[in-house]
Amino acid sequence: MGASISTTQGRQSKMLGLGVHRPERVVTNDEICEFIDSSDEWIQTRSGIKNRRFTKPEQNVVYMSIEAGRKALEASGVAAEQIDTVIVATSTHLEQTPQAAAKVAHALGTNGPAAFDIGAGCAGFCYALAVASDLVKAGTSRHVLVIGAEQLSETTDPYDRTTRFIFADGAGAVVVGQSDETEIGPAVWGSDGSQADAIYQTVDWYDYIMKEGIERPWIKMNGISVFRWAAFEMGKAAQKVLDVAGIKTDELHAFVPHQANSRITELLARSLNLNEETTVANDIAETGNTSAASIPLAMEELLRTGKAKPGDTALLLAFGAGLSYAGQVVKLPTL
Ligand code: UT7
Repeated sequence: MGASISTTQGRQSKMLGLGVHRPERVVTNDEICEFIDSSDEWIQTRSGIKNRRFTKPEQNVVYMSIEAGRKALEASGVAAEQIDTVIVATSTHLEQTPQAAAKVAHALGTNGPAAFDIGAGCAGFCYALAVASDLVKAGTSRHVLVIGAEQLSETTDPYDRTTRFIFADGAGAVVVGQSDETEIGPAVWGSDGSQADAIYQTVDWYDYIMKEGIERPWIKMNGISVFRWAAFEMGKAAQKVLDVAGIKTDELHAFVPHQANSRITELLARSLNLNEETTVANDIAETGNTSAASIPLAMEELLRTGKAKPGDTALLLAFGAGLSYAGQVVKLPTL
Protein backbone atom coordinates (compact mmCIF):
# COMPACT_ATOMS: atom_id res chain seq x y z
CA MET A 1 0.00 0.00 0.00
CA GLY A 2 3.04 2.35 -0.28
CA ALA A 3 1.51 3.79 -3.44
CA SER A 4 3.24 6.63 -5.23
CA ILE A 5 1.03 9.35 -6.70
CA SER A 6 2.04 10.34 -10.23
CA THR A 7 2.49 14.01 -11.17
CA THR A 8 4.65 16.38 -13.17
CA GLN A 9 8.36 16.65 -12.28
CA GLY A 10 9.88 19.26 -9.98
CA ARG A 11 9.11 20.69 -6.55
CA GLN A 12 6.26 18.84 -4.77
CA SER A 13 3.78 19.64 -2.02
CA LYS A 14 2.26 18.00 1.03
CA MET A 15 -0.07 18.62 3.95
CA LEU A 16 2.20 19.04 6.97
CA GLY A 17 -0.39 19.14 9.76
CA LEU A 18 -4.11 19.32 10.46
CA GLY A 19 -6.15 21.19 13.08
CA VAL A 20 -9.89 21.55 13.56
CA HIS A 21 -12.43 23.49 15.58
CA ARG A 22 -15.61 21.72 16.64
CA PRO A 23 -17.96 24.16 18.41
CA GLU A 24 -18.85 23.15 21.97
CA ARG A 25 -22.61 23.12 21.66
CA VAL A 26 -24.04 19.76 20.56
CA VAL A 27 -27.46 20.12 18.93
CA THR A 28 -29.60 16.99 18.78
CA ASN A 29 -32.16 16.11 16.13
CA ASP A 30 -34.86 16.56 18.79
CA GLU A 31 -33.73 20.15 19.35
CA ILE A 32 -33.87 20.83 15.58
CA CYS A 33 -37.37 19.31 15.52
CA GLU A 34 -38.62 21.89 18.04
CA PHE A 35 -38.69 24.27 15.03
CA ILE A 36 -39.42 22.03 12.03
CA ASP A 37 -41.99 19.34 11.29
CA SER A 38 -39.66 16.33 11.29
CA SER A 39 -38.37 13.56 13.55
CA ASP A 40 -35.13 12.12 14.86
CA GLU A 41 -35.88 8.93 12.95
CA TRP A 42 -36.51 10.72 9.61
CA ILE A 43 -33.33 12.77 9.91
CA GLN A 44 -31.19 9.75 10.79
CA THR A 45 -32.66 7.58 8.04
CA ARG A 46 -32.49 10.21 5.29
CA SER A 47 -29.16 11.84 6.14
CA GLY A 48 -27.28 9.74 8.71
CA ILE A 49 -27.14 12.69 11.12
CA LYS A 50 -27.67 12.20 14.88
CA ASN A 51 -26.12 15.38 16.25
CA ARG A 52 -24.39 18.45 14.93
CA ARG A 53 -22.56 21.41 16.47
CA PHE A 54 -23.65 25.03 16.43
CA THR A 55 -21.50 27.99 17.49
CA LYS A 56 -22.52 30.96 19.53
CA PRO A 57 -23.49 33.69 16.99
CA GLU A 58 -20.35 35.74 17.73
CA GLN A 59 -18.05 32.72 17.21
CA ASN A 60 -18.16 33.26 13.49
CA VAL A 61 -16.14 32.02 10.52
CA VAL A 62 -13.16 34.19 11.49
CA TYR A 63 -13.20 32.91 15.10
CA MET A 64 -13.44 29.25 14.07
CA SER A 65 -10.77 29.70 11.39
CA ILE A 66 -8.34 31.15 13.93
CA GLU A 67 -8.93 28.24 16.32
CA ALA A 68 -8.45 25.60 13.60
CA GLY A 69 -5.55 27.49 12.03
CA ARG A 70 -3.64 27.70 15.33
CA LYS A 71 -3.94 23.94 15.82
CA ALA A 72 -2.84 23.25 12.22
CA LEU A 73 0.30 25.36 12.79
CA GLU A 74 1.08 23.42 15.99
CA ALA A 75 0.57 20.07 14.28
CA SER A 76 2.82 21.13 11.39
CA GLY A 77 5.63 22.52 13.50
CA VAL A 78 5.52 25.63 11.31
CA ALA A 79 5.74 29.06 12.95
CA ALA A 80 3.07 31.65 12.10
CA GLU A 81 5.76 33.93 10.59
CA GLN A 82 6.65 31.19 8.09
CA ILE A 83 3.16 31.28 6.56
CA ASP A 84 3.21 33.32 3.38
CA THR A 85 -0.34 32.67 2.14
CA VAL A 86 -3.63 32.16 4.00
CA ILE A 87 -6.70 30.89 2.14
CA VAL A 88 -10.12 30.59 3.79
CA ALA A 89 -12.75 28.57 1.93
CA THR A 90 -16.20 29.62 3.10
CA SER A 91 -19.68 30.58 1.97
CA THR A 92 -20.81 31.88 5.35
CA HIS A 93 -18.41 34.71 6.20
CA LEU A 94 -21.04 37.37 6.78
CA GLU A 95 -18.91 40.37 5.82
CA GLN A 96 -18.44 40.93 2.11
CA THR A 97 -15.41 43.11 2.92
CA PRO A 98 -12.79 42.54 4.19
CA GLN A 99 -12.07 38.92 3.43
CA ALA A 100 -11.91 36.53 6.39
CA ALA A 101 -8.37 35.39 5.52
CA ALA A 102 -6.73 38.77 6.26
CA LYS A 103 -8.23 38.92 9.76
CA VAL A 104 -7.34 35.29 10.43
CA ALA A 105 -3.76 35.82 9.24
CA HIS A 106 -3.36 38.83 11.52
CA ALA A 107 -4.84 37.12 14.58
CA LEU A 108 -2.50 34.15 14.16
CA GLY A 109 0.58 36.40 14.31
CA THR A 110 1.68 35.93 10.73
CA ASN A 111 3.89 38.41 8.98
CA GLY A 112 1.62 40.08 6.40
CA PRO A 113 1.03 37.11 4.09
CA ALA A 114 -1.14 36.98 0.97
CA ALA A 115 -4.65 36.35 2.24
CA PHE A 116 -7.83 35.62 0.33
CA ASP A 117 -11.11 33.73 0.54
CA ILE A 118 -12.41 31.10 -1.85
CA GLY A 119 -16.13 30.62 -2.43
CA ALA A 120 -16.90 27.27 -3.99
CA GLY A 121 -19.64 26.04 -1.65
CA CYS A 122 -19.03 22.65 -0.10
CA ALA A 123 -16.23 22.04 -2.63
CA GLY A 124 -14.30 24.99 -1.18
CA PHE A 125 -11.70 23.12 0.87
CA CYS A 126 -10.57 20.94 -2.05
CA TYR A 127 -10.45 24.02 -4.31
CA ALA A 128 -8.30 25.84 -1.76
CA LEU A 129 -6.05 22.81 -1.29
CA ALA A 130 -5.53 22.61 -5.08
CA VAL A 131 -4.58 26.30 -5.24
CA ALA A 132 -2.25 25.96 -2.23
CA SER A 133 -0.54 22.91 -3.68
CA ASP A 134 0.09 24.69 -6.99
CA LEU A 135 1.38 27.82 -5.21
CA VAL A 136 3.91 25.69 -3.35
CA LYS A 137 4.92 23.70 -6.42
CA ALA A 138 5.38 26.89 -8.46
CA GLY A 139 7.56 28.38 -5.73
CA THR A 140 5.17 31.32 -5.18
CA SER A 141 4.63 30.28 -1.55
CA ARG A 142 6.61 28.11 0.84
CA HIS A 143 3.87 27.53 3.41
CA VAL A 144 0.16 27.99 2.81
CA LEU A 145 -2.44 27.81 5.54
CA VAL A 146 -5.65 26.38 4.03
CA ILE A 147 -8.84 26.64 6.07
CA GLY A 148 -12.42 25.51 5.47
CA ALA A 149 -14.89 27.17 7.86
CA GLU A 150 -18.66 27.55 7.95
CA GLN A 151 -21.34 28.94 10.23
CA LEU A 152 -24.51 27.50 8.73
CA SER A 153 -26.44 27.87 12.00
CA GLU A 154 -26.67 31.60 11.23
CA THR A 155 -27.36 31.25 7.50
CA THR A 156 -30.10 28.60 7.41
CA ASP A 157 -33.66 29.34 8.52
CA PRO A 158 -34.46 27.56 11.82
CA TYR A 159 -37.98 26.92 10.47
CA ASP A 160 -36.89 25.49 7.09
CA ARG A 161 -37.34 21.72 7.16
CA THR A 162 -35.38 21.26 3.91
CA THR A 163 -32.06 22.66 5.21
CA ARG A 164 -32.06 23.10 8.98
CA PHE A 165 -31.49 19.46 9.97
CA ILE A 166 -28.59 18.93 7.58
CA PHE A 167 -26.20 21.89 7.86
CA ALA A 168 -23.89 22.71 10.79
CA ASP A 169 -20.85 24.67 11.97
CA GLY A 170 -17.13 23.95 12.21
CA ALA A 171 -13.68 24.57 10.77
CA GLY A 172 -10.66 22.58 9.68
CA ALA A 173 -7.21 23.68 8.54
CA VAL A 174 -4.01 22.28 7.05
CA VAL A 175 -0.58 23.74 6.40
CA VAL A 176 0.68 22.93 2.92
CA GLY A 177 4.46 22.99 2.39
CA GLN A 178 7.22 21.63 0.16
CA SER A 179 7.94 17.95 -0.23
CA ASP A 180 10.35 15.67 -2.08
CA GLU A 181 7.57 13.21 -2.90
CA THR A 182 4.14 14.02 -4.35
CA GLU A 183 1.77 13.98 -1.40
CA ILE A 184 -0.99 16.07 -2.98
CA GLY A 185 -2.01 14.75 -6.39
CA PRO A 186 -3.34 16.82 -9.29
CA ALA A 187 -6.83 18.23 -8.72
CA VAL A 188 -9.81 17.29 -10.83
CA TRP A 189 -12.37 20.04 -10.59
CA GLY A 190 -15.29 21.60 -12.39
CA SER A 191 -18.71 23.20 -12.18
CA ASP A 192 -22.20 23.13 -13.69
CA GLY A 193 -23.66 26.62 -13.50
CA SER A 194 -26.86 25.43 -15.20
CA GLN A 195 -27.71 24.10 -11.74
CA ALA A 196 -26.89 27.33 -9.91
CA ASP A 197 -30.33 27.32 -8.31
CA ALA A 198 -29.85 23.91 -6.66
CA ILE A 199 -28.16 25.56 -3.65
CA TYR A 200 -28.77 29.28 -3.42
CA GLN A 201 -29.28 32.42 -1.34
CA THR A 202 -32.98 33.37 -1.21
CA VAL A 203 -32.49 37.08 -2.02
CA ASP A 204 -29.41 39.07 -2.96
CA TRP A 205 -28.33 42.08 -0.90
CA TYR A 206 -29.60 44.57 -3.48
CA ASP A 207 -33.16 43.25 -3.37
CA TYR A 208 -33.03 42.94 0.42
CA ILE A 209 -32.02 46.59 0.77
CA MET A 210 -34.18 48.09 -1.98
CA LYS A 211 -37.44 46.19 -1.76
CA GLU A 212 -39.81 46.45 1.16
CA GLY A 213 -41.06 43.54 3.20
CA ILE A 214 -38.34 41.13 2.11
CA GLU A 215 -37.07 38.62 4.65
CA ARG A 216 -33.33 38.44 5.26
CA PRO A 217 -31.34 36.12 2.98
CA TRP A 218 -31.12 32.41 3.85
CA ILE A 219 -29.32 29.51 2.19
CA LYS A 220 -31.78 27.08 0.56
CA MET A 221 -31.27 23.82 -1.25
CA ASN A 222 -33.17 21.71 -3.72
CA GLY A 223 -31.96 18.55 -2.02
CA ILE A 224 -33.21 16.06 -4.59
CA SER A 225 -31.44 17.81 -7.51
CA VAL A 226 -28.19 17.92 -5.60
CA PHE A 227 -28.59 14.32 -4.48
CA ARG A 228 -29.15 13.09 -8.05
CA TRP A 229 -26.21 15.08 -9.43
CA ALA A 230 -23.90 13.89 -6.66
CA ALA A 231 -24.96 10.26 -7.00
CA PHE A 232 -24.55 10.17 -10.81
CA GLU A 233 -21.69 12.58 -11.52
CA MET A 234 -19.44 12.37 -8.46
CA GLY A 235 -18.65 8.67 -8.90
CA LYS A 236 -17.23 9.53 -12.34
CA ALA A 237 -15.34 12.51 -10.92
CA ALA A 238 -13.84 10.32 -8.17
CA GLN A 239 -12.61 7.84 -10.76
CA LYS A 240 -10.98 10.67 -12.74
CA VAL A 241 -9.19 11.85 -9.58
CA LEU A 242 -7.76 8.36 -9.12
CA ASP A 243 -6.80 8.12 -12.79
CA VAL A 244 -4.84 11.41 -12.89
CA ALA A 245 -3.01 10.37 -9.72
CA GLY A 246 -2.27 6.91 -11.14
CA ILE A 247 -3.80 5.26 -8.07
CA LYS A 248 -5.92 2.11 -8.13
CA THR A 249 -8.78 1.65 -5.68
CA ASP A 250 -6.96 -1.19 -3.91
CA GLU A 251 -4.10 1.22 -3.13
CA LEU A 252 -6.43 3.56 -1.21
CA HIS A 253 -6.35 3.49 2.58
CA ALA A 254 -9.19 5.96 2.91
CA PHE A 255 -12.00 7.61 0.97
CA VAL A 256 -12.94 11.02 2.37
CA PRO A 257 -15.96 12.41 0.51
CA HIS A 258 -17.72 15.63 1.47
CA GLN A 259 -20.00 14.72 4.35
CA ALA A 260 -23.19 15.73 2.53
CA ASN A 261 -25.42 12.81 3.39
CA SER A 262 -24.41 9.30 4.49
CA ARG A 263 -26.57 7.84 1.70
CA ILE A 264 -24.54 9.76 -0.91
CA THR A 265 -21.31 8.54 0.74
CA GLU A 266 -22.53 4.93 0.52
CA LEU A 267 -23.52 5.29 -3.15
CA LEU A 268 -20.15 6.81 -4.05
CA ALA A 269 -18.19 4.15 -2.15
CA ARG A 270 -20.19 1.44 -3.92
CA SER A 271 -19.71 3.01 -7.36
CA LEU A 272 -15.95 3.10 -6.80
CA ASN A 273 -15.95 -0.60 -5.93
CA LEU A 274 -13.67 0.05 -2.96
CA ASN A 275 -12.08 -2.95 -1.38
CA GLU A 276 -13.02 -3.83 2.21
CA GLU A 277 -9.82 -2.52 3.73
CA THR A 278 -10.44 1.03 2.49
CA THR A 279 -11.84 3.14 5.30
CA VAL A 280 -14.74 5.36 4.27
CA ALA A 281 -14.99 8.55 6.32
CA ASN A 282 -18.32 8.86 8.10
CA ASP A 283 -18.15 11.93 10.31
CA ILE A 284 -21.63 13.19 9.46
CA ALA A 285 -23.43 11.35 12.30
CA GLU A 286 -21.97 13.59 15.01
CA THR A 287 -20.97 16.61 12.90
CA GLY A 288 -23.70 17.19 10.29
CA ASN A 289 -22.90 18.71 6.91
CA THR A 290 -20.38 21.50 7.51
CA SER A 291 -19.93 22.42 3.84
CA ALA A 292 -16.35 23.66 3.19
CA ALA A 293 -15.23 22.40 6.62
CA SER A 294 -16.41 18.83 6.20
CA ILE A 295 -13.34 17.31 4.48
CA PRO A 296 -10.75 18.44 7.07
CA LEU A 297 -13.15 17.57 9.91
CA ALA A 298 -13.67 14.10 8.43
CA MET A 299 -9.88 13.63 8.01
CA GLU A 300 -9.43 14.60 11.65
CA GLU A 301 -12.04 12.05 12.80
CA LEU A 302 -10.24 9.29 10.89
CA LEU A 303 -6.86 10.20 12.37
CA ARG A 304 -8.12 10.84 15.94
CA THR A 305 -9.91 7.50 16.12
CA GLY A 306 -7.05 5.55 14.54
CA LYS A 307 -9.13 4.48 11.52
CA ALA A 308 -6.37 6.00 9.39
CA LYS A 309 -2.87 7.26 10.08
CA PRO A 310 -0.60 10.04 8.84
CA GLY A 311 0.93 9.11 5.49
CA ASP A 312 -2.01 6.94 4.42
CA THR A 313 -3.20 7.42 0.84
CA ALA A 314 -6.65 9.03 0.73
CA LEU A 315 -9.07 10.16 -1.97
CA LEU A 316 -10.69 13.51 -1.16
CA LEU A 317 -13.81 14.54 -3.08
CA ALA A 318 -15.93 17.60 -2.32
CA PHE A 319 -19.06 18.88 -4.07
CA GLY A 320 -21.86 21.37 -3.60
CA ALA A 321 -23.10 24.86 -4.52
CA GLY A 322 -22.36 26.06 -8.04
CA LEU A 323 -22.85 23.25 -8.59
CA SER A 324 -19.13 22.62 -8.31
CA TYR A 325 -16.72 19.90 -7.28
CA ALA A 326 -13.03 19.21 -6.69
CA GLY A 327 -10.96 16.26 -5.58
CA GLN A 328 -7.41 15.01 -5.23
CA VAL A 329 -5.49 12.00 -3.93
CA VAL A 330 -3.37 12.92 -0.90
CA LYS A 331 -1.20 11.48 1.83
CA LEU A 332 -2.92 12.21 5.14
CA PRO A 333 -1.21 14.79 7.41
CA THR A 334 -0.35 14.56 11.12
CA LEU A 335 -2.76 15.82 13.77
O1 UT7 B 1 -23.56 19.91 1.00
C1 UT7 B 1 -23.87 20.40 -0.28
C2 UT7 B 1 -24.41 19.32 -1.11
N1 UT7 B 1 -25.65 18.87 -0.53
C3 UT7 B 1 -26.05 17.62 -0.68
O2 UT7 B 1 -25.35 16.84 -1.28
C4 UT7 B 1 -27.41 17.25 -0.14
C5 UT7 B 1 -28.14 16.37 -1.12
N2 UT7 B 1 -29.52 16.09 -0.75
C6 UT7 B 1 -29.85 15.35 0.32
O3 UT7 B 1 -29.02 14.96 1.10
C7 UT7 B 1 -31.30 14.97 0.49
O4 UT7 B 1 -32.04 15.40 -0.65
C8 UT7 B 1 -31.96 15.53 1.77
C9 UT7 B 1 -31.38 14.82 3.00
C10 UT7 B 1 -31.73 17.02 1.88
C11 UT7 B 1 -33.48 15.24 1.75
O5 UT7 B 1 -33.69 13.86 1.68
P1 UT7 B 1 -34.63 13.26 0.54
O6 UT7 B 1 -34.66 11.81 0.75
O7 UT7 B 1 -34.15 13.74 -0.80
O8 UT7 B 1 -36.02 13.88 0.90
P2 UT7 B 1 -37.06 14.55 -0.10
O9 UT7 B 1 -36.75 16.00 -0.23
O10 UT7 B 1 -37.19 13.70 -1.33
O11 UT7 B 1 -38.40 14.42 0.70
C12 UT7 B 1 -39.00 13.11 0.93
C13 UT7 B 1 -40.23 13.32 1.77
C14 UT7 B 1 -41.21 14.36 1.20
O12 UT7 B 1 -42.52 13.94 1.53
P3 UT7 B 1 -43.45 13.17 0.47
O13 UT7 B 1 -43.58 14.14 -0.66
O14 UT7 B 1 -42.70 11.93 0.11
O15 UT7 B 1 -44.69 12.93 1.25
C15 UT7 B 1 -40.86 15.60 1.97
O16 UT7 B 1 -41.95 16.48 2.08
O17 UT7 B 1 -39.86 13.79 3.06
C16 UT7 B 1 -40.50 15.04 3.32
N3 UT7 B 1 -39.56 15.88 4.05
C17 UT7 B 1 -39.38 15.77 5.36
N4 UT7 B 1 -39.95 14.99 6.28
C18 UT7 B 1 -39.54 15.11 7.55
C19 UT7 B 1 -38.71 16.82 3.57
N5 UT7 B 1 -37.97 17.34 4.56
C20 UT7 B 1 -38.36 16.69 5.68
C21 UT7 B 1 -37.98 16.78 7.02
N6 UT7 B 1 -38.58 15.95 7.92
N7 UT7 B 1 -37.01 17.61 7.44
